[in-house]
Amino acid sequence: MDVTVLHFDTIDSTNTEALKQARLGAEEGLCVVARQQTAGRGRNGRVWVSGKDAGLYFSIVLRPKVETQYLPLITLMAGVAVHDALAEYGIEADIKWVNDLLVGERKICGILAETTETDRGLAVIVGIGVNLKSSNFPLELAETATSIEEELTAAGNSGGISGEALSETLTRYISYFYVLLDSPEGPAAIVEEWRRRSSYFSGKRVRVVLDGETVNGTTDGLEPNGALRLRKDDGEVLIVQAGDVERVRPERMEAGGRITITGRTPFGL
Ligand code: BTN
Repeated sequence: MDVTVLHFDTIDSTNTEALKQARLGAEEGLCVVARQQTAGRGRNGRVWVSGKDAGLYFSIVLRPKVETQYLPLITLMAGVAVHDALAEYGIEADIKWVNDLLVGERKICGILAETTETDRGLAVIVGIGVNLKSSNFPLELAETATSIEEELTAAGNSGGISGEALSETLTRYISYFYVLLDSPEGPAAIVEEWRRRSSYFSGKRVRVVLDGETVNGTTDGLEPNGALRLRKDDGEVLIVQAGDVERVRPERMEAGGRITITGRTPFGL
């Protein structure tokens, strides 16, 4: 994939700009990067705090050829790519379904995938926010979020990484895994790559918030399209297409049971 980068000093949201560019006919591989966002968006209508040079604010335009049923795998593919980009700097992250990157259970990166119809067909915008510094975290994030600078300092490596360097590393991994996803065995390969990098794949005791209702259970692998299988305490298996997952302390579980598909919208898209 050929990559072109549009740099902004300040922008409302790199995702909003990438959506606009996609509708104007931008080629796949166009990346929008900004030093700060004034209206950074997170999943489920949340705000993404985006102070100047405190994070990487990055969005890429994709025009996927993969079958529609596998489109949700784009967001898992992005999580795998961010995982490997961070690993290049010695940061070992976990991936929490569907696409939060955690270090020591604190969030270092979030991913927001959005779609738009364009004259050239469907475009998917993958927006990635990586915390470079912890200094401007609001109080409510200080305990639940971490940053590259904080993790490198804790490991005895002073100094952080520039957004520019990280953006280059990231585009290299996105290109690699995106091409993999488009190959005949791509969807299964992406699920497998995700499994290798995530402790949430199976056997993790979690709480999932689905349309305002909280369900407890244990993760039980992913469906071929990346949906999360959640085994409830009564043995019923829910296929979770959308929802927020939180880890809870382990306890004894029983196995067996029915399968129910839940979540109104495809996750991450
Ligand atoms: C999440 O809620 O975890 C997803 C956060 C995604 C934030 C990134 S920052 C770059 C891009 N532009 C946005 O407005 N959001 C995404």
